[in-house]
Amino acid sequence: MKRPNLVTSLLQSTFLFFLLSVSIVYAQPLPPPKFDGFVYGKHRVDWDAIQIEAFLDPVCPDSRDAWPPLKQVLALYGDRVWLLVHLLPLPYHDNAFVASRALHIVNGISNHHYTFKLLEWFFKYQEKFYNAQTRNLTRTEVVNEIVKSATQVVGSSYLGTLESGFNDRKTDLKTRVSFKYSAARGVYGTPTFFINGFQLPDAGSPLDFNGWKTIIDPLIGNKTTKNSDNMHYFL
Ligand SMILES: *[C@@H]1O[C@H](CO)[C@@H](O)[C@H](O)[C@H]1NC(C)=O
Ligand SMILES: *[C@@H]1O[C@H](CO)[C@@H](O)[C@H](O)[C@H]1NC(C)=O
Repeated sequence: MKRPNLVTSLLQSTFLFFLLSVSIVYAQPLPPPKFDGFVYGKHRVDWDAIQIEAFLDPVCPDSRDAWPPLKQVLALYGDRVWLLVHLLPLPYHDNAFVASRALHIVNGISNHHYTFKLLEWFFKYQEKFYNAQTRNLTRTEVVNEIVKSATQVVGSSYLGTLESGFNDRKTDLKTRVSFKYSAARGVYGTPTFFINGFQLPDAGSPLDFNGWKTIIDPLIGNKTTKNSDNMHYFL
C-alpha cells in the first residue's frame, strides 16, 4: 500500500471541506415545518373520508389528462373523499421545477383556490412550456412568461409578489421539499395516486372516471357497482 502523498491528502481535505460547506449552505430544512401538498377544495383533513393523494407534474401531459376525471370523482363523492396534491417536478421536464415553484408562490400569497386555478392553467397551456417549445428561451424568459401568466390567474396586483417570490429562497425550498417528499414515497412518475396511503397500480398513466368508480365504490360500500372486488388492487 502506498502512503498518500501530501498533494493527495490536501486535495482530499479540500474536497471534504467543499462538500461540508455545500451541505451547510444548501442543507434542506427536513422535516419541513408543514406537511407537503395542497388540499383541494374546502375539505378539511377528515380521517373518516377516503384520502386520495395525487402526485402531479404541472407540465406533464398524463397529469393533465388525469385531472378532469379526478375532479369528476371529487364532485361525485363530495365529503366522502378528499384530495391532497403533491407536486413532483420531473427532472426530464425542463420547466417542471419553475412551474411547480410558481404554484408554491401562488399558494403562499392566496388561498388554495388560486393554487388549483393556476394548476389548471398549466394543464391547459402546458405545451408552451414543453422542452422543444422552450429550447431557445433562457431560464429568465421562461420565468417571466410564467409570472405573466400567473398574474392572469391571480390578478395583476400580485405582479410584484410573484416576481419577488421567484427570488425568495423559501419558495425554492418548498418546491424541493415537494420533490423530496415524492422521492421519499418512492414515486418517480406522474400521475401517481395513493388511496388511504396505498399506491394504485399503473403509475404514470391517467385513470378514467370509471376506473376511479370501480376503486372507490366498494370502499364506501356502494354495492351497485358491478365490478366490486377491486380490493385485490391493494392485496
Ligand atoms: C430555435 O432556434 C432554431 C435555430 O434558430 C430554429 O430552427 C428553431 O425553430 C427554434 N425553435 C423554436 C421552438 O423556436
Ligand atoms: C353507486 O353506483 C351506482 C352504479 O355505478 C351509481 O349509479 C351510484 O351513483 C353510486 N352511488 C354513489 C353514492 O356513488
